[in-house]
Order: sequence, then C-alpha cells, then structure tokens
Amino acid sequence: QIIPVARALRGEIAVGEQVTVRGWLRSKRDSKAGISFLAVHDGSAFDAIQAVAPESLANYASEVLKLSTGCAVEVTGELVASQGKGQSVEIQASAVTVVGWVEDAETYPIAKKRHTFEYLRTQAHLRPRTNTFGAITRVRSTLANAIHNYFHERGFNWINTPIITGSDCEGAGELFRVSTLDLANLPRDGKGGVNFEADFFAGEAFLTVSGQLEVEAYCLAMSKVYTFGPTFRAENSNTSRHLAEFWMVEPEIAFADLADDADLAEDLLKHLFTRVLEEREDDMAFFQQRIDKTVIERLRGVIDNRFERIDYAEAIDILQNCGRKFEFPVAWGTDLASEHERFLAEEHVGRPVVVMNYPKEIKAFYMRLNDDERTVAAMDVLAPGIGEIIGGSQREERLDVLDARLDDHQKEDLWWYRDLRRYGTVPHAGFGLGFERLLNYVTGMENVRDAIPYPRTPGHADF
Ligand code: 4AD
Ligand code: MG
Repeated sequence: QIIPVARALRGEIAVGEQVTVRGWLRSKRDSKAGISFLAVHDGSAFDAIQAVAPESLANYASEVLKLSTGCAVEVTGELVASQGKGQSVEIQASAVTVVGWVEDAETYPIAKKRHTFEYLRTQAHLRPRTNTFGAITRVRSTLANAIHNYFHERGFNWINTPIITGSDCEGAGELFRVSTLDLANLPRDGKGGVNFEADFFAGEAFLTVSGQLEVEAYCLAMSKVYTFGPTFRAENSNTSRHLAEFWMVEPEIAFADLADDADLAEDLLKHLFTRVLEEREDDMAFFQQRIDKTVIERLRGVIDNRFERIDYAEAIDILQNCGRKFEFPVAWGTDLASEHERFLAEEHVGRPVVVMNYPKEIKAFYMRLNDDERTVAAMDVLAPGIGEIIGGSQREERLDVLDARLDDHQKEDLWWYRDLRRYGTVPHAGFGLGFERLLNYVTGMENVRDAIPYPRTPGHADF
C-alpha cells in the first residue's frame, strides 16, 4: 500500500506491514558497512521518514549510491521500529526506485542544509521542499480550512466578491488598474483625458483592495457572511508587513455594532489558534524550537485571556506618557505608526489589544460616525511583533450621514451602496483580517514575503 509519510510517523500503520512511500530525498548518508540511510519527505508531515537501503538491492551501486538531495524516489519495504533517536519507525527497504534524478547535485539550488530566507525567496519554486516552508505551507492551509469551518459552523455564508471592481473601498488610491488599452497609444476623450469608455469594461476597472463594499450588500440580505480571497494594493512600502497581493478574511454581520464586531474578531482568533495548536503540533514544535521560542506560549496566552480594549484617545495618552522616544511623535488626530502599534501590543499589554474609536479624519468614509461627531466606530486589533492584523468598523447605515462624507463623484459611483441605506438599512459591522500577517503571528516568521507562496512586492511580479 502507498501511504503518506505522516501516517507512518503518527503510528497509524502497524509495524511489520509492507508499505510504499513516494517523495523527495531530504538527505542521504552512506555507511561504510554497505547501508544507505535515505530521509524521504512528501509534504504530509514535518519530518521525513528514514528508509534503510542495504547493498543487496539490485540497483544499490548503480543508483542508490548516486542519489542526492532533491531526487524523487519510491521506496517499498517493511515498516520496522527504529533504533535511531528522534524517530519511532523506519522502512527496511526491499526496493528503491528512482522516479526523478537531480541533474547535478552540485548546482541543486537548495542542497545546502541552511539558507537565508532572503535567498530562498529567489527560489520560490523550490523553497516548499525545505522543512521551514513545508511547515508554513501546512499551517497556512490548516488556517484557511479552520477559517472556513469556523464560519460555516456558525451559519455564515461565504460570498465570492469580485477581484475586478470599479470602486476604491479604502479610498487610499492604491489601486492597480485593469485595462486592455495600449499604454503607448491611449484613446483621448477630447478634454485632455484618457477615454476609458473605449476600454474593455467601458469605464475604469481595478483589482480590488477589499471585498467589503460588495460583501455588505450580501450581509444586508443573508445576515452573516464573509469573503476570503486575494486583495491587491499598490502601496509602495517595502516593509516586512506589506504585500502588493495578499489574502484577506472579511466577515460582515447585520444587526451588530462595534462591540459585537470586536467580540467576533476575538472569538475567531482564539478559535484559529486553538485549531492550529491541535492540528499542526509537529510544525508548531518546529517554529517554537527554531523560529520563535515563545510562540506556543504566546498563542496559549491569547486563547486564555480576554483581549484588552482601549479607546484611541486612551492609546494616545499611553503613548504620550510612556517615556519612550518614538520616531514619529503622536497627538490626538495622528494615525498610529507601526512603532506605536507595537508598543501598545508588546509593552503595554503583552498580548493583542483592540484599539477603538479613531478620529474620523484618518479613517475610511464608510465607518459609522460616533455621537461625539469627531470619531468613528473603528477598531484595529494590534498584535505583538507585527502591529495591525485586523482592521474593522461598524458601518455608517444612515444615508444622510454617509452622504456628508462622500463627494459627488463618489455618490455617483457608489449609487448601489447608497441604495443599501435607502432600502431596509440596519446597523452592521465587519472587519478584515490580513491572512499573511496572521500566519506570521502564528508561526513567529518575521516577513509576510515568507507567508505567501509567491510574494508580490514593488519590483517583483515575474516569479
Ligand atoms: O485595515 P484594512 O485596510 O481594512 C480593510 O480593507 C477593510 N475594508 C476591511 C473590512 O472592514 N472588511 O486591511 C485589513 C487588514 C489589515 O489589518 C492587515 O492585516 C491586512 O489587511 N493588510 C495587509 N496585509 C499585507 N499587505 C498589505 N499591503 C496589507 N494591507 C492591509
Ligand atoms: Mg487598517
């Protein structure tokens, strides 16, 4: 029987069974006694399984001795208890078939034991074969699955909001244009502008920065919804927490206010951390040992404690009186920079903290105006080591108040969004959780470029 390596390592296959595994060589050691030890990984588990190949194999000298890291093999043999430390079982090979050779062991790009993460980003096609990226890949997939399960079990419908859209949800002008026009030969509208009516969509079109506006419409029909997919931002920031293409989870709930929104964010994060610790024990043990010594303890601390919630005004007060010298000074009205967010989460609380009710000037048009008329019902969840991982708000459901924040052009474009405030409007709220920032928080990895298979950043889209 062909089995995933994980099943053998988890003890699901009885010792004495004949098994076949298929995978790639992580390493090989040849002993003088005429035995080779092959470590075979297939992506199903953190560890490779050891196969012991004796020189009595017909192809021992002609093939087994020539194998090198990265070769694809199929190994058949008896599953036996292992003598070696750190592994419970191994395969006593009766056949080793080479499925794919590594052409030249000397030039195999990831043959060396340890590479920097910077180097591995240049080998995005091969880095999933390393144990770190294998672990990240499994944790990412487990998290995605846990997100869908969480919402499904609670009666949320998953809405597939469009990737191509005409609206700029965040109003930050960070849009990638989608066009079939010939840049060198743009059609003119007679007033000196470009005639986008001649374009494929007969108007301007962009890659979405957020599915929120479209998901709100479904929320005001289905009550509990979420969208989860890729989003795009042309922000020219070369940092460890920004990608031009990233994934976002955006739930939206009707008949709900900001407190309900913060409750949902807290409950979701706790659920996800619990699931990852349960399901990816092997990978999490690795992250704890090699990437971040406190990661498991940190996640347990989040699960076991109530999130602290503070007002933006209080956060400013804390930052002004903490005695720390920041690069950017803060006062009421300034947006929080990453150094401020991290201070609040790391030094002030030591765990994720929810900051609520920001000044309206620094937040998006759709956030609900508070009674003080200076702040909006916004919330950010700030995490130690990262800063903002969630941004959300209660939405402005009153048409007149919404209109006061829109210019004529926006009113025209967002006619359908305004309709939602004219036909059966209700208080509603939602948030966006950055999936790569979440993955960094869960694994202790420092750069979002290592949390997505193919990172897109300024200057890098080819591969
Ligand atoms: O705070 P943001 O911009 O919120 C929204 O887009 C809302 N429309 C969401 C909503 O209410 N439905 O982004 C939400 C989260 C951030 O907290 C951050 O985790 C992540 O998305 N994010 C990014 N992650 C990686 N690279 C980028 N360039 C990111 N920009 C935002
Ligand atoms: Mg934000």
